[in-house]
Amino acid sequence: MSEADPLRFVRSDFRELEEYVPVKPLDVLAQEIGMPAGQLVKLDANENLYGVIPEVREAIAAAPLHIYPDPGQGALREAIAGYAGVGPGQVVAGAGADDLIDVVIRLVGPEAVVIATPTFGMYGFLAKITRSRVVESPRGPGFAPDLDDIERAVGAGARIVFLASPNNPTGNLLSHGEIGRLCAMDALIVVDEAYIEFSGHSATPLLAKHGNLVILRTFSKWAGLAGLRVGYSLSHPGLASRMMAIKQPYNVNVAADVAARAALEHRGRIFETVRCIVEERERMARLVGELGWLTPLPSSANFVLFEVKGRSAAGVSAALRRRGVLVRYYDRPDLQNYIRISAGRPEDTGRLLAALRAVEAQ
Ligand SMILES: Cc1ncc(COP(=O)(O)O)c(C=O)c1O
Repeated sequence: MSEADPLRFVRSDFRELEEYVPVKPLDVLAQEIGMPAGQLVKLDANENLYGVIPEVREAIAAAPLHIYPDPGQGALREAIAGYAGVGPGQVVAGAGADDLIDVVIRLVGPEAVVIATPTFGMYGFLAKITRSRVVESPRGPGFAPDLDDIERAVGAGARIVFLASPNNPTGNLLSHGEIGRLCAMDALIVVDEAYIEFSGHSATPLLAKHGNLVILRTFSKWAGLAGLRVGYSLSHPGLASRMMAIKQPYNVNVAADVAARAALEHRGRIFETVRCIVEERERMARLVGELGWLTPLPSSANFVLFEVKGRSAAGVSAALRRRGVLVRYYDRPDLQNYIRISAGRPEDTGRLLAALRAVEAQ
């Protein structure tokens, strides 16, 4: 490296850091596939394809965008607390659940964190950014986390355990018994409930008993606000107050703030789409399963993981993409034979099935 190379200022482990691989934006995909964006069936990122309700759009249009947001998040924390059944002092909002994952890691500054793989990629990515070692604990049969193995990792010094419930991409839940056992460990237990509105099975009743439990939630999935970036954590008020102290002061922008509050105010209307998506998840899993070469795993989220039999999962994903149907394939050993498909509207399932039949006939 030459003396003048500006990379000499960069942290040495960042010089070869593997970048997070996000889902590509719709216009980029449309250009790559050669199809108008409006014709693509986007079943790759677990978004709510019913979109945003008019009441939320109106709230954004009327928001005072020329004024800085409230760093104390007063109105938003109050509204979330009412929805989640906790006190406002237990809530911290952020730029998506991703922001809170980052805040929790920076709050603890752990030497190591544990993740139960396969799982959401952001835990490991953000831990590395904060110089934490990532201990991967492989899930067992049915993708259930191996609590004995996690216990060993905590015993060896890991100070945060990240577990999603329902888990992405496997769709399975943690029981209260499992969360209770995890919370008996000497570590911060982060239960990520990004998909909770599709399952209804929350760990919030356990917050009163376990001061080391942090729950993460988001408006990205059920409320269709993925593009606005707003999520939150629920925890012991002492932890929440320290998280408030170290977060970026303006981490929730004005548009996201008013949109999240409008979504909560009009949640009855949004929950109608959530009910449709849950119904569609079951219908889509059944119809796709009936093709005979894709086996659905039970899911409590807004997506289904399918095991692909007798074909390459990567090949199926690529062939669907050429037909304008986007699904998620993970190029990693524990998911080699799987694809994850988000539940959309009935017409999205129709396009998916037609494309799968075309792939089958190839
Ligand atoms: C388990 C899990 N947690 C968090 C997120 C990110 O949520 P947000 O959009 O609020 O950052 C996702 C998104 O895919 C997820 O699957």
